[in-house]
Order: sequence, then C-alpha cells, then structure tokens
Amino acid sequence: MRVLAISGSLRRDSHNTRLLRAAALALPPGVELELYDGLAALPPYSEDADVDPAPVAVEDLRGRIAAADALLIATPEYNASIPGVLKNAIDWSSRPFPDNALRGKPVAVIGASTGLFGAVWAQAELRKVLHHTGADVLEEELPVGLADHAFAATDELADAELQQQLIELTGALAREVRTPVAVSH
Ligand code: FNR
Repeated sequence: MRVLAISGSLRRDSHNTRLLRAAALALPPGVELELYDGLAALPPYSEDADVDPAPVAVEDLRGRIAAADALLIATPEYNASIPGVLKNAIDWSSRPFPDNALRGKPVAVIGASTGLFGAVWAQAELRKVLHHTGADVLEEELPVGLADHAFAATDELADAELQQQLIELTGALAREVRTPVAVSH
C-alpha cells in the first residue's frame, strides 16, 4: 500500500514536512510513504492553463494522486487557513471535477504550528476543501502545537501521547484503504 504525503509548507526546515517523516515511521507494516516534493513547481491555477495536456507538474501531481492508495497531508496554518500553495495544489487536483484524482481517495489531515493550537483551524479548513472535491476524508486530526519543541532527534514526536495518536491515525488511514466507506457527493 502506498501513501502519498504532501506537506503544505515549502520551508526548508518545515515542521509539517518533519511531521510527515514522523508519520513514515509510524505507519503500519506493509505501508510505504512517498513524500511529494513538487508543490513549488506547480503553476498558479488558471482555467486557461487547465487544458489537455495540463502543465507537466500538474500531470505529475494528478498521476501521483491517482496511483496512491491514500493521501496524508500535513498543513501549516497561515492566517487561520491553509497556505495558498497547498490550496493551489488541491485546485489543480480537483479538475476535471466529475472524475478528479481526489474523488473517493482516502485522505487524512494532520498539522503542526509553532503556536499552542497545532493548526486546528487550517486542518478543519483543509478537510472542508477536500470534502468538496469528493475525497474520502478521515475525521481524525492531529494538532501538533509548539512545534519548535515537538520532535525528538529521531524525528518521532517527543510527546508519547501525540506519537500514539499519530500511530492510530496512520493505522486508521490504512484501514480506510482496505474497507472504504461509501462516499456521497
Ligand atoms: C503563520 N503562523 C501561524 N500559526 C498559527 O497557529 N496560526 C496562524 O494563523 C498563523 N499564521 C501564519 C501566517 C504566515 C504567513 C506564516 C509564515 C506563519 C505560524 C506557523 O504556524 C509557523 O510558521 C509554522 O512553523 C509553519 O509551518 P512549517 O513551515 O514549520 O511547516
């Protein structure tokens, strides 16, 4: 089983990218995580550019989503919402709308922020957007606050309870692939 992991941050030392590395260590046996690194190469969404064939970076993203069994997205919170670069990637992925690559795809959302609340608003916003695309969005969330101090040297979460939540969430994502729920549109 392959999980495509997308970090909503382009920052070199991103806590959210690190959270995905922690998730890679927490995955159940037999599940592989592929870290997507093409976010910065995506052009700004325009319907004029959304033609067949789409820009190479867009075709690549859509193809990776289609090929993955599930998605794990770690989002920072920017001004109480998700970063524009992440929304841009979802907008590209959501077209053509009737059979977009996200439709029916199991997706889990997690997030880290340097403040207390661990990007809870951004995670809620991201789940809303993903629901709209027709993705099969898990309700579980993982808010990692005070992210400057949240990770051990091994990349695992320093807090044992949070690390356990991450293990449970990635396990739930794998189970969702094995027993998908009916998605209503
Ligand atoms: C932030 N940050 C932030 N944090 C938060 O909890 N709520 C917010 O609304 C915002 N808004 C915000 C806007 C912008 C433009 C930036 C650059 C930052 C702080 C943010 O959580 C922090 O920088 C994280 O470390 C970003 O995630 P990465 O890059 O470490 O993954």
